[in-house]
Amino acid sequence: MRFGHFDDSRREYVIATPHTPYPWTNYLGCEEFFSLISHQAAGYSFYRDARLRRLTRYRYNNVPTDVGGRYLYVRDGDDFWSPSYLPVKRELDFFECRHGLGYSTITGERRGVRVRSTFVVPLGHPAEVQRVEVTNTSTAKKSLRLFSYVEFCLWNAYDDMTNFQRNLSTGEVEVDGSTVYHKTEYRERRNHFAFFHVNAPIHGFDTDRERFLGLYNGMHEPRAVAEGQSGNSIASGWAPVGSHCVDVTLEPNETKVLVFVLGYVENPTSEKWERPGVLNKVRARSLIEHFSTSGQVDAVLLAMELHWRRLLSTFQLESPDPRLNRMANVWNQYQCMVTFNISRSASYFESGIGRGMGFRDSNQDLLGFVHLEPARARERIVDVASTQLPDGSAYHQYQPLTKRGNNEIGSGFNDDPLWLIFGVAAYVKETGDFGILKEVVPFDNQSANSAPLFEHLRRAFHHVLDRLGPHGLPLIGRADWNDCLNLNCFSETPDESFQTSGNQAGRTAESIFIAGMFVAVAPDYAYLAQRSEFEEEALDAKAQAEKMSETVLRHGWDGDWFLRAYDFFGKKVGSHECTEGKIFVEPQGFCVMAGIGKDTGHAKKALDATKQLLDTQYGIVLNQPAYTKYHVELGEITSYPPGYKENGGIFCHNNPWIMIAETTLGRGDRAFEYYKKIAPAYVEERSEVHRLEPYVYAQMIAGRDAPRHGEAKNSWLTGTAAWNFVALSQHLLGVRPDFEGLRIHPVIGREIDKFTVTRRCRGAEYVIRVSNRGAGDRAPRLTVDGTAIHGDLVAYAPAGSRVVIDCEV
Ligand code: GLC
Ligand code: GLC
Repeated sequence: MRFGHFDDSRREYVIATPHTPYPWTNYLGCEEFFSLISHQAAGYSFYRDARLRRLTRYRYNNVPTDVGGRYLYVRDGDDFWSPSYLPVKRELDFFECRHGLGYSTITGERRGVRVRSTFVVPLGHPAEVQRVEVTNTSTAKKSLRLFSYVEFCLWNAYDDMTNFQRNLSTGEVEVDGSTVYHKTEYRERRNHFAFFHVNAPIHGFDTDRERFLGLYNGMHEPRAVAEGQSGNSIASGWAPVGSHCVDVTLEPNETKVLVFVLGYVENPTSEKWERPGVLNKVRARSLIEHFSTSGQVDAVLLAMELHWRRLLSTFQLESPDPRLNRMANVWNQYQCMVTFNISRSASYFESGIGRGMGFRDSNQDLLGFVHLEPARARERIVDVASTQLPDGSAYHQYQPLTKRGNNEIGSGFNDDPLWLIFGVAAYVKETGDFGILKEVVPFDNQSANSAPLFEHLRRAFHHVLDRLGPHGLPLIGRADWNDCLNLNCFSETPDESFQTSGNQAGRTAESIFIAGMFVAVAPDYAYLAQRSEFEEEALDAKAQAEKMSETVLRHGWDGDWFLRAYDFFGKKVGSHECTEGKIFVEPQGFCVMAGIGKDTGHAKKALDATKQLLDTQYGIVLNQPAYTKYHVELGEITSYPPGYKENGGIFCHNNPWIMIAETTLGRGDRAFEYYKKIAPAYVEERSEVHRLEPYVYAQMIAGRDAPRHGEAKNSWLTGTAAWNFVALSQHLLGVRPDFEGLRIHPVIGREIDKFTVTRRCRGAEYVIRVSNRGAGDRAPRLTVDGTAIHGDLVAYAPAGSRVVIDCEV
């Protein structure tokens, strides 16, 4: 069952009813100011850091769900309602939400009044602009009274929901004309404030929540709206809000437009005040001036469209399957941008408080993002590498505002450092910017201890080699990619985190996953070493990888698949000898991607076992059988009920590893079958089961052991986005930037018999026309501008040129 449809020509998903199975959200903002917005206009805004600079309040874990947003109340006679359905929930004659790239439009109509609100965070400005078009669709004149509403957060989102003894006394505002200024804590150390403005004279306002809503009223029945009269309240402590009251009179068919602006301003310390106690509003006014007319909003929307058209033109696919086209051309790339911007910090499942930017996560996000804005990817690489510790290890997370490693989460995830090599290699392949390897980057943000980026990579690589266990396999530390496989933690205390407690300095628990990763990344590392004139290091890296492959086949092979790990006691994890957790997906994916056992038949066996034991109708589950009991020696993974999250859930993130692995064996039909199982556009028809947005990936879909098999959770912020884009664009469609050329090697199976990819890379444009007759097990035959070439590598053309490649496979 569907709850809307894709409008491909406008690159929008159109939600046709407020009654979706869950709030379906979008992200506004691409630079520093961000907003989350659901199809019912709920969500919140923040500047750069969702924890430290939160502008508006949202109530996670609230009943009913999805409370707090930018709301509009229309009072029409004695009736009042919300065009976004929530919060008033009065039935609408028409509802539609269009989530587009960087904007959302919500339209609601009731009793002859149609309100269409467009929300966008303009490029280049720290503000959310909301254009409201009100139309009288009836035959009689209408006199309406509109009330706007936002609730301010007292900046630090964590304190805001914990420190009430203080917060209830600190709130401060100013009202000036049609602008409400929120200036809590500005009197002391803050030099930033927020404002909420409308470009029309107002009849009244409110800034005190209790006065606007009434102490015991919900947002669905504000006292001011019910009475038809604002309270003109000035908040003093308690809960500051921003609400305007605007009168609108409309002849039949007439439309009037209002523009609201929620903005963020920083003043230099010396220019904080206009006069004692009164905010200096100069910067706010000039921000407002950019958005005081509907025409200016048109320009903002046009700029947004051109921005996205330009970004997406880097990779465009034409295939016979519209679902594939919309994933490849629009939605998968869009999600890659959002995960790059937000990392794992703020979504409807991430509160913006718990997690900053992950070291591992950010490097993976890069893989799907680097073609869009390489310069920003470069900046991110430097930020991330600056949090690496001198011994090569990494803080697991860092705060975006301070760019400092987060001590609360700490370090010790032994896969983390290797991801930096993945990220840097992807960046260099895309851009040819080998110069980045010479960029001087600090360790742990201490400029006194800095080294060229290549040295960071070297320490990352050797961090693994310096920490090998009894079988010669990499020690796992706190965990590897699977945050929940905590083999050194032994937690018996419910109040401690598996990620920060325990971690006995174990010299036994080893990870076959990290081994696979090590082998997978070694060729790129060796290449970069060679280019940096470290010939010996390059040769040694290759030799070490060779040795690690052998070690995996000797000690990491279980007979029919790759083992997952050895635990603290040296016992196998992910073996047929185990009673639960006999097989795990991660090593099957990564070891095969690394080429381990490809020539010996191990790789094929491992993928066949994956198919047989882990595949379900909704995707590949992480492990089987799921753990039914808590195992203190395995950690958090066994804390989840069977079928959820890392314990037998369909962790979408590692499904594309299996797709890629299948392509390395030339099995395109199977790779594409896996692709379609979790790709949102293909899942759209079963939205009532999946429940989350049909235009973006979720982190997890409940596995077959869960009562709610097929139900997704954690949409948007997941490495699934980047990895699926890599799997699709580089391996299934087979257009893969390499260090010295574009590798063209499609393995997508028989269903997609022909397609064209237009790819811009290093300033040139490549038009790749593929005629695909096989399953993907034959070497492609390429002609470049009409001339046949050997192999699958097309040398990079000079910037500005256009290259036509024909590929038969
Ligand atoms: C989450 C984390 C990611 C981790 C994965 C598996 O998606 O963000 O870092 O690898 O879970 O535990
Ligand atoms: C990852 C996992 C999650 C775990 C968390 C701990 O995000 O997906 O299950 O709770 O890491 O940090």
